[in-house]
Amino acid sequence: MPHDKFHYEFMFGTLRPACLSLLSLLLFFLLSLNSVQGQTDSSQVEISPDNTAVAVTSDGTDEAVVAEGEKLFNTNCRACHAVDKKLIGPALAGVYDRRDLDWIKLFIRNSQAVIASGDEYAIDLFEEYNKTVMTPFNLADSEIESILSFIKFEAENVTSAAQTDAGVASTDTGNQAPSSFLSAVLIGLVVVLALILVVLFLIIGFLTKFLQQRDELDEADRDIVNQKFNLTKLVKSPAFVGIVAFVFGILVLKSVIDGLYQVGIQQGYAPKQPIAFSHKLHAGQFEIDCNYCHTGVRKSKSANIPSANICMNCHGQILTESLEIQKIYAAIENDRPIEWVRVHNLPDLAYFNHEQHVKVGDQECQTCHGQIQEMEVVEQFAPLTMGWCISCHKETKVDTKGNAYYDNLVELHAQHSNEPLKVEDIGGLECAKCHY
Ligand code: HEC
Ligand code: HEC
Ligand code: HEC
Ligand code: HEC
Ligand code: HEC
Ligand code: HEC
Repeated sequence: MPHDKFHYEFMFGTLRPACLSLLSLLLFFLLSLNSVQGQTDSSQVEISPDNTAVAVTSDGTDEAVVAEGEKLFNTNCRACHAVDKKLIGPALAGVYDRRDLDWIKLFIRNSQAVIASGDEYAIDLFEEYNKTVMTPFNLADSEIESILSFIKFEAENVTSAAQTDAGVASTDTGNQAPSSFLSAVLIGLVVVLALILVVLFLIIGFLTKFLQQRDELDEADRDIVNQKFNLTKLVKSPAFVGIVAFVFGILVLKSVIDGLYQVGIQQGYAPKQPIAFSHKLHAGQFEIDCNYCHTGVRKSKSANIPSANICMNCHGQILTESLEIQKIYAAIENDRPIEWVRVHNLPDLAYFNHEQHVKVGDQECQTCHGQIQEMEVVEQFAPLTMGWCISCHKETKVDTKGNAYYDNLVELHAQHSNEPLKVEDIGGLECAKCHY
């Protein structure tokens, strides 16, 4: 019966590859689930600080010495030095190879004396760091050696630290919520796929049994029904190839779209600043007005970052001994501005004016910058995309009370609309208002 045969062939030719495809999808999802959790795991590990110090060191240095060195480094040196990058002073990784131990001890105890003695290396370094004076430290030999062991240990673990840093950066930008959401979705998919798979196997088993009991099947039909599992044939079957190509296409498309959406968006960006300045302390606890430091915010386009002189209004007297504050003095002595890392940055093609929003538009800083007065480190709160500007302009009413400038506009607007005057009605959606 050629007609029936077509049916069997179709049935088994489709059902079996479908099972295989589902099986591989299942595997794929299980794998992605694993990697999604791996991502969150690695960032959680990083949350507990100082875990490097407790680990056994690779070259057999006593871990207690390293821990001791870390403590000393954090209290005395961290303000100006990092192991793997330049801060106020040079990166200290490899210093034990650059200089001998005696030189290092002399330099730490009294760098100025080493420089005054005419040591060429020290003089060059001093010049290179704009004559920043390193504080003298009255440390014992063993203490300096333990600091060096710690630096060596850190330097050797820089690569692993950099990796975890990357993990943290990605959660900082708000990936944590999506990744747990993704996990939930993936788990759901895995369960559904597994169920479908079980049902398909049941159907195949059922049909095979049923067909075997029918007598009118000829030899060829029986061959098809009893066909053994043939991997090469399955992999080559159009159904399998089609499904694999489809899944692959979707994945590529998804990563391209995700990538495009992220271009230029820096929401959650919170760079480390050269001085540990805290808005939580200054604007929160001590309630210093935003305008006191950001002097331009009510009268010009830019809000301004305060110069070191503004800090000196208070820190000429307050906390003069603090290492963080001494960085302010160093900047003034060297006549160099403090190199704050810019957090918010619109592309050059866009025009944004603070006065227009804060003074004329009466918008709160917090609407666009979040709860700055609670931040230890400033973080970009809003996405700063064009869509973000536009949607606020569509929703926000213009504050027209007591502003004669708007009287005519309000009257005109009222003639053809019952809605209050919004920013979009005064030209807030015109390209040229925001683009040069
Ligand atoms: C106030 C900032 C400051 C502090 C605190 C500080 N340093 Fe320095 N350090 C510097 C500067 C700046 C230099 C570069 C030389 C110069 O300008 O005198 C330097 C240079 C060095 C050098 C030479 C580096 C090289 O590449 O040859 C060593 C070693 C060093 N510091 C160790 C330490 C140690 C250890 C501590 C903590 C006990 C420490 N420093 C604390 C600012 C500081
Ligand atoms: C005592 C001075 C001071 C006060 C008061 C202050 N700031 Fe700042 N602000 C700074 C300094 C310094 C920086 C640059 C360093 C940083 O980003 O932490 C800064 C940075 C910022 C930035 C990020 C700028 C960028 O790089 O994009 C924002 C936004 C900001 N402040 C908003 C506020 C708001 C809102 C208030 C009031 C609630 C406020 N500040 C009060 C000193 C101050
Ligand atoms: C209106 C006064 C005022 C101004 C202006 C001011 N501060 Fe402060 N600052 C304070 C006070 C008060 C404290 C906390 C003192 C305390 O904890 O005893 C403080 C603490 C700090 C600390 C913590 C230091 C430590 O070792 O704990 C840093 C860092 C700091 N300020 C940096 C700055 C910088 C940078 C500027 C300029 C952008 C600045 N401050 C401007 C009043 C001010
Ligand atoms: C929280 C709401 C809000 C956000 C976000 C916002 N704006 Fe505005 N914007 C306003 C208000 C309110 C006014 C009206 C001010 C007035 O009364 O003239 C305004 C006015 C303007 C104007 C003047 C329009 C005109 O015709 O006078 C420009 C230009 C502008 N905004 C640009 C931007 C840009 C660029 C962004 C994004 C980077 C942005 N705004 C984000 C609320 C917002
Ligand atoms: C309508 C939204 C909005 C409001 C309200 C707003 N800002 Fe901004 N702020 C921005 C945008 C957008 C930028 C980025 C500007 C750029 O890159 O040109 C910015 C940048 C800054 C900067 C970085 C320096 C600069 O001028 O570019 C500081 C500091 C700042 N804002 C402080 C404040 C303070 C303080 C207030 C409240 C008094 C405030 N902002 C209110 C949107 C806003
Ligand atoms: C309320 C302010 C505002 C208005 C009105 C506005 N834009 Fe934009 N536009 C922006 C901002 C802010 C950016 C930068 C967004 C970013 O960096 O993601 C931008 C970015 C762009 C870009 C660059 C592509 C991109 O996403 O980075 C183009 C093109 C553009 N706008 C075209 C237009 C056109 C055309 C109009 C008029 C129909 C218009 N814009 C109206 C604020 C505005």
